[in-house]
Amino acid sequence: MRVPINITVNGEEYHLEVKPNRVLLDVLREDLGLTGTKKGCGLGKCGACTILLDGRPVHSCLLLAAQADRRQITTIEGIAAEEPHPLQAAFVAKGAVQCGFCTPGMINAAKALLDANPDPDEAEIKLAIAGNLCRCTGYNQIVSAIQSCTPSKSDLQAAERGESNE
Ligand code: FES
Ligand code: FES
Repeated sequence: MRVPINITVNGEEYHLEVKPNRVLLDVLREDLGLTGTKKGCGLGKCGACTILLDGRPVHSCLLLAAQADRRQITTIEGIAAEEPHPLQAAFVAKGAVQCGFCTPGMINAAKALLDANPDPDEAEIKLAIAGNLCRCTGYNQIVSAIQSCTPSKSDLQAAERGESNE
């Protein structure tokens, strides 16, 4: 048995028929070829599969594809158009990407945070990425990269470099 679903992924509409027990992560990766979303634990514990569902971060390994019917989905492939998203550029600049396996999920979690709260403090950033595990960086570079995309920290860093907005 299959169920029909209509989903919008990165602005593109898809009409699919899926088995009721298929999770969204597998549909994105295997049916749509959007392999930027990573499969880590498959159990909701690592955050590698984090995508945005109607703008909110969710673990796509725990969400049935049928539950995403008529919802808007953003994957890492849809975060940026031609230029990298500022968060992506900041992750590279700050050394927050090492093996890169956690990065798509981290970027999505961070984007959801900044969309809802453009100037979070450090505690709020750490809370926003608490469900995303990184085996490589020790997290400091990731927090620093996200901070560098906030108005207060980017102003501070510009001042430290001797730059001025005036
Ligand atoms: S793969 Fe989904 S949380 Fe680990
Ligand atoms: S960069 Fe390797 S898991 Fe985060």
